Amino acid sequence: MSTLSPSGALLVVDAGNLFRRSAVLPESERAEREAKARLIAEATRLGGIDAMLPARGDFSFGLPFVTDVGSAWELPYVLSNVTCATPLPWPAVRRFDKGGTRVEVYGIAHPELKLPGCSVTDAGQALSGIPVTDTVVLVLADLGRTPEADVAARAPGVDFFLRADSTETLSTPEALATGALVLSSGARGKLLGVATVQVTPGARTWSDAGASAARAADVDTATARLTELGTRKAKATDPREVARLVRQEEFWTKKQAAARTALELATTTGGPTSRLSNTLRGLVDDVGEHAPTFAKVAAVKATLTGAKSAPAAAVPANTAAGMGPWVGSAACSACHTVQAAQWSHSGHARAYASVVADDRQFDLDCYSCHVTGALDGTGPTDPRQLHGLENVGCESCHGAGKAHAASPTTAHLVREPPTSQCVQCHDSRQDGGRFDEPTYRPKVAH
Ligand code: HEC
Ligand code: HEC
Ligand code: HEC
Ligand code: HEC
Repeated sequence: MSTLSPSGALLVVDAGNLFRRSAVLPESERAEREAKARLIAEATRLGGIDAMLPARGDFSFGLPFVTDVGSAWELPYVLSNVTCATPLPWPAVRRFDKGGTRVEVYGIAHPELKLPGCSVTDAGQALSGIPVTDTVVLVLADLGRTPEADVAARAPGVDFFLRADSTETLSTPEALATGALVLSSGARGKLLGVATVQVTPGARTWSDAGASAARAADVDTATARLTELGTRKAKATDPREVARLVRQEEFWTKKQAAARTALELATTTGGPTSRLSNTLRGLVDDVGEHAPTFAKVAAVKATLTGAKSAPAAAVPANTAAGMGPWVGSAACSACHTVQAAQWSHSGHARAYASVVADDRQFDLDCYSCHVTGALDGTGPTDPRQLHGLENVGCESCHGAGKAHAASPTTAHLVREPPTSQCVQCHDSRQDGGRFDEPTYRPKVAH
């Protein structure tokens, strides 16, 4: 969610996936997720909103649901690149006059969005007709893997892209060659982007006060990492260690090149520019509760699967430790005492307590990464039945270990879990983009 504030006049927008990020909705979760989506729709209305995109995750509920909820709460949806046999109830553009600044908001659906009887037009084509004027043109963009730069090249009238499904939070916007900027407040609904814009008549590019300093810092970080890796490589003798360092060097060399290009774009200004300054506000504890919304959240929470008020008979017994091929960390610890001692002092061993502290342990959106085996079809699928698999246990990294625990010398596990295992949970969305392989990996070694 972001707000755009030209000359003190506020415009509140959201780039979608408010109901859900994933494009598929398992039937078993539908009832609970629909209840949440209705709550989110109502809360969005209560909070006030000027324009929003129905993105691909929202459509996982089906077009009729989005249409119903949208009209029930008068959500100001905008969708510019979808044509259907039965026309959709939303405009292709929403226009505003905010304190004398004209603003147009467009909505771009995901290129792979499938809606019955509808087709999705390419974003560049859909936006190519927008003239280059002093009107501020904002695109709420669910672009999938299409880079904003490609769309901007065909649609020079666009000033800002707000990313729908961002894998990273941009504290300072990204500059594009056309002079447009990309904004992103992350995907967790935990941050509110506040952008203040100042239009210079006739200017064709945007500059951001903080951008060049931030990009210069990115270049410095990458350069420092490369120097450090070079020193470590010179000292390393183990060929596996050398190979790992070479891979890390490749990673940071790419980062460094990208940061240099971004720095160049953020600092070159040919002629007059309009200005934007962007801040991200955390929706943290010192932001007061909105009483009417809070009451509605409490009411819906009481109806969720594992809510404390759910009738006891509906909660099956939490049976013996382990489930299917998963045995639980206690079993491993008996033999691997050194590793167990190190693990038991790590955040992974307390991961379940963290969701309990937030009172979200029964929430289908929360428990899976804080429990062992729940991301795999063979582990827990019901947050009320964890079979002693609470926390990010040994098997979260080494794989399901029942067979190994029974016969360690014949059934083997992964000795050195790859980073691909980590990023199933450290997915750069839910963790606020904090995962940094070179600093995180050494912390879990035993
Ligand atoms: C099953 C999900 C999952 C997997 C797999 C996983 N993690 Fe984590 N990790 C978490 C969760 C959840 C936390 C937060 C724990 C808490 O509640 O404090 C965490 C926390 C951490 C922390 C502590 C962060 C801090 O500074 O407080 C580090 C370091 C870490 N993980 C590294 C890794 C690495 C490296 C891997 C792969 C080898 C990995 N994790 C695999 C879920 C996972
Ligand atoms: C995709 C996996 C995933 C899901 C789903 C998930 N988490 Fe986490 N969570 C993590 C990881 C990874 C960390 C560790 C982040 C770090 O420190 O780098 C974490 C950390 C945390 C922490 C520790 C402190 C913090 O804020 O970083 C809390 C509390 C937490 N999660 C609560 C939740 C809640 C509430 C939900 C549901 C809305 C949730 N998690 C859903 C992966 C997940
Ligand atoms: C009965 C004792 C015992 C239990 C229980 C046990 N292990 Fe092991 N583990 C061993 C032995 C012995 C080896 C060495 C096997 C070899 O070298 O052939 C081993 C090896 C490993 C390895 C190195 C890779 C491999 O398979 O050789 C990993 C990783 C590992 N164990 C993890 C675990 C995890 C995780 C659990 C719990 C699911 C666990 N172990 C339970 C005894 C045990
Ligand atoms: C966050 C991911 C993660 C978790 C959780 C985890 N490990 Fe590991 N484990 C690793 C990594 C990475 C390595 C390889 C680096 C190293 O040797 O420390 C490893 C290596 C090992 C090895 C092989 C050591 C050797 O001599 O080659 C054993 C055995 C092992 N872990 C057991 C466990 C046990 C038992 C637990 C739970 C008490 C556990 N691990 C939890 C990531 C993890």
